[in-house]
Amino acid sequence: MKILAIETSCDETAISLLDVSGQKAEKIKVVKNLVASQIKIHAPFGGVVPNLAKREHLKNLPILLAQAVPDKKTIDSIDLIAVTVGPGLEPALWTGIQFAKELSKKWKKPLIGASHIEGHLYSFLLQKTTNYKLQTKNIFPAVDLVVSGGHTMLVLMKGLKNYKKLGETMDDAVGESFDKVARILNLPYPGGPEVEKMAKKGNQNAINFPSPMIDQKNYNFSYSGLKTSVLYKLRDLSGAQNSKKPWHSDSFNVSEKIKADVAASFQKAAFKVISKKTARALKEFKGKSVMIGGGVAASKSLRKIIKDELKKQNIKANLIFPPIKYCMDNAAMIGVAAYFNYLKKKKYPLRANGILNIK
Ligand code: KG4
Ligand code: ZN
Repeated sequence: MKILAIETSCDETAISLLDVSGQKAEKIKVVKNLVASQIKIHAPFGGVVPNLAKREHLKNLPILLAQAVPDKKTIDSIDLIAVTVGPGLEPALWTGIQFAKELSKKWKKPLIGASHIEGHLYSFLLQKTTNYKLQTKNIFPAVDLVVSGGHTMLVLMKGLKNYKKLGETMDDAVGESFDKVARILNLPYPGGPEVEKMAKKGNQNAINFPSPMIDQKNYNFSYSGLKTSVLYKLRDLSGAQNSKKPWHSDSFNVSEKIKADVAASFQKAAFKVISKKTARALKEFKGKSVMIGGGVAASKSLRKIIKDELKKQNIKANLIFPPIKYCMDNAAMIGVAAYFNYLKKKKYPLRANGILNIK
């Protein structure tokens, strides 16, 4: 079966065409994976502006569609249309949903809603080998970690159609904290890759930032306090607290060396909680694997910290990351999530739900 998937929950307009084939529908192939990034448009504002995102989605959707579905033959081959219904920015989500509804009507194809979080959860299936039944034969139970600009979540996956949320962030998401710290350090948006780059030049043991909730016996996270610690530390290091003039995070006068130490120490504190809680979940639930999805999964440092933690605790588990292009927002993951909803006969209402969560 062919699935056309549409994703517009945040600042990437994405359309993908998936082909599920094989005798037992065991092969998932990404035929097209198109993403129109809006980073340059939002960068001057230091974050995503919802109405600008909506405007860009409206502009980009028909362009991407013409590339993904160039002719009548491709239209005829489509069996299912999938669209992200949440969570995300509601004006942005609505543009994708309206667009998908119109296509569904025009082409007379069924339409199914998908969760953006489930997209990241299932993104590990988008590997080069496309036989997902073989690929997942010996990996469950598994701990699936979703780390992005909107989410920080640990999920126990007992099987492809059976999962349960273990915990999530109580405030900011980990990617969001990287974006905020980048702004404090005067680095461009999106901040994650910039902070990681700067951290490479610094000493991660220079400053002892807190790793919030690390000792709590649950699987929840909190990142807003860590970001505030970074802000106050930089204020103190720059001497701004003694200044008579009101201080502002843009005006911190510190050396590049201090900035690099702050970035490295912050990154260590941010990822320490994730690696410890992931290791604990693996032990508690006898997990055989860890899957990691979401934009922050693109971080080489996070991959290394988790690997090192498992080694240190002598936990033997497969570490499964999607290719980088499927860590970031994309529509292929939405097609996969929608496919499993379709198999489970799970239906989301076809309207934007900015706070749609998983259980
Ligand atoms: O999954 P994604 O593309 O969008 C959301 O669903 O949020 O994730 C984007 C987030 C941003 O916050 C970005 O700063 C973060 O992922 N990110 C990183 C890295 N690359 C992207 N965070 C830390 N280190 C990275 N290398
Ligand atoms: Zn995302």
